[in-house]
Amino acid sequence: MHVVAVFLCLLVTLSHVKAESEIDLKDKVTVVTGAARGIGRAIADNLLKEEVEVVIIVDKNLTQGLVTETEFKSTYGEEKVWFIHGDVTTDLDWVFEKIFEKYDYVDILVNNAGIAKEDDPVLTLLTNIVAPALWSQKFYDVMRKDKEGKGGIILNIASIEAYTKDPFFRAYKTSKFGLLGLSVGLGHEWNYMTSEVKVIPLCPGLTDTDMAKEAVNVGEDFELETIAKYIGSMTMQSADVVGQAAVTVCKTGKTGTAYTIEADKLFESPYIQNVTAEFLNSL
Ligand SMILES: NC(=O)c1ccc[n+]([C@@H]2O[C@H](COP(=O)([O-])OP(=O)(O)OC[C@H]3O[C@@H](n4cnc5c(N)ncnc54)[C@H](O)[C@@H]3O)[C@@H](O)[C@H]2O)c1
Ligand SMILES: *[C@@H]1O[C@H](CO)[C@@H](O)[C@H](O)[C@H]1NC(C)=O
Ligand SMILES: *[C@@H]1O[C@H](CO)[C@@H](O)[C@H](O)[C@H]1NC(C)=O
Repeated sequence: MHVVAVFLCLLVTLSHVKAESEIDLKDKVTVVTGAARGIGRAIADNLLKEEVEVVIIVDKNLTQGLVTETEFKSTYGEEKVWFIHGDVTTDLDWVFEKIFEKYDYVDILVNNAGIAKEDDPVLTLLTNIVAPALWSQKFYDVMRKDKEGKGGIILNIASIEAYTKDPFFRAYKTSKFGLLGLSVGLGHEWNYMTSEVKVIPLCPGLTDTDMAKEAVNVGEDFELETIAKYIGSMTMQSADVVGQAAVTVCKTGKTGTAYTIEADKLFESPYIQNVTAEFLNSL
């Protein structure tokens, strides 16, 4: 009896250690959408500092994409970065094929490309939730260990707007609530048990980027002054802080768990209700 109990304990401990152990990002093939500038660029930069094999940048901004590619090449080396000029809402299939013509595998996908245009709610939803949902599913399917993959990480950049009740940014908020739900569902430990693909939403608070500068004027039916005051009530963090948090979460984050990086602090996001694998197994 005791021997069995000790053995079981050991097994539990070992599997616990395995699940919690830090992932080494060295030599990983990574894709970051919207990395021509802002948070995506900072995530790419921090991945490169971890000595990943390559960061493949997918961005619709040709000029800025080329600038960022050139900068990273001079800092990290010619082979370390590859810019693909594409739009996440329309170009998934050919971009995916192009990536797999050159690389055998993608270990990490970061769905970061996003917009905040309340005067174009359809484009906001297409960019911030429809595209990441399709990108997540397509990469998940090649990464999953029960289907010839070798596991991987999908990091979805949501926002504190994904769980905040305020009257503003309604299309944006809808899209980010969706992205949070998609990520905690796809990344649920129940799915992870067979796929070994970590799916994690990371929710940044206000971050110093072009998007944040334009945020007061996203085209909503509020007085600009009201939105400016609301945004002014938040603490602004640098994009690099979010880039560092993205690396930390890739290395040590729990799958299906939402994280927040806000005012330089990284913590588990509030308000997620759990349906545990333990509960599902008990049904
Ligand atoms: N800045 C903030 O305060 C903040 C806070 C929380 C979450 N976020 C999220 O972080 C992500 C990055 O935002 P940011 O502040 O760096 O914005 P940004 O506008 O500075 O950068 C976004 C990048 O995504 C690219 N992009 C947009 N639509 C695209 C498309 N359809 N296809 C390919 N590329 C596309 C843009 O060209 C740009 O390079 C977004 O998902 C945003 O919602 C930002
Ligand atoms: C590309 O990014 C640059 C730098 O932020 C910006 O000035 C320019 O307007 C962007 N172009 C497009 C087409 O989005
Ligand atoms: C959800 O489950 C995780 C562990 O799987 C736990 O750390 C967290 O506290 C739980 N959250 C809630 C709201 O119960």
